[in-house]
Amino acid sequence: MASEASEQTIKPDGVQRGLVGPIISRFEQRGYKLAAIKLVTPGREHLEKHYADLSDKPFFPGLINYMLSGPICAMVWEGRDAVKTGRVLLGATNPLASAPGTIRGDYAIDVGRNVCHGSDSVENAQKEINLWFSKEDLVTYKQSQHSWIY
Ligand code: RTP
Repeated sequence: MASEASEQTIKPDGVQRGLVGPIISRFEQRGYKLAAIKLVTPGREHLEKHYADLSDKPFFPGLINYMLSGPICAMVWEGRDAVKTGRVLLGATNPLASAPGTIRGDYAIDVGRNVCHGSDSVENAQKEINLWFSKEDLVTYKQSQHSWIY
């Protein structure tokens, strides 16, 4: 099975609104395996690295201030096509365009408060995993339910 890893970050609004559990459930129920998780309050420099490719966008300062407004929950989910499927579970960037049934389509209205981040390519997933987690944070284990999923 070709497995890959994706980094998802539950943003400050998601944590404050009590959506950590429901968001984790969506990845678990779909069949993805949790490989790492942490609740952290990252600093400005860390967030500017995470969103470095957006630094010239007009919304960048607002995005960084939003992400600095409270703790976030960073996670790594593993499984077949985890990056692409993670984006589908997340929904469109602007929640007004996100389909019902997706995380943003069910929980958000405003693009500036869109609850959860997800890696948008395998290359960026690796960069984000390395930014948020150390090698020791990543847990390798066999999940018995996987023999029923794959
Ligand atoms: P993310 O990185 O958070 O998963 O979001 P994304 O790939 O769906 O979208 P991206 O273009 O990378 O934008 C990152 C985050 O910036 C905020 N944003 N605000 N027009 C705006 O005000 C605007 N556009 C984007 C959103 O919080 C978006 O998730």
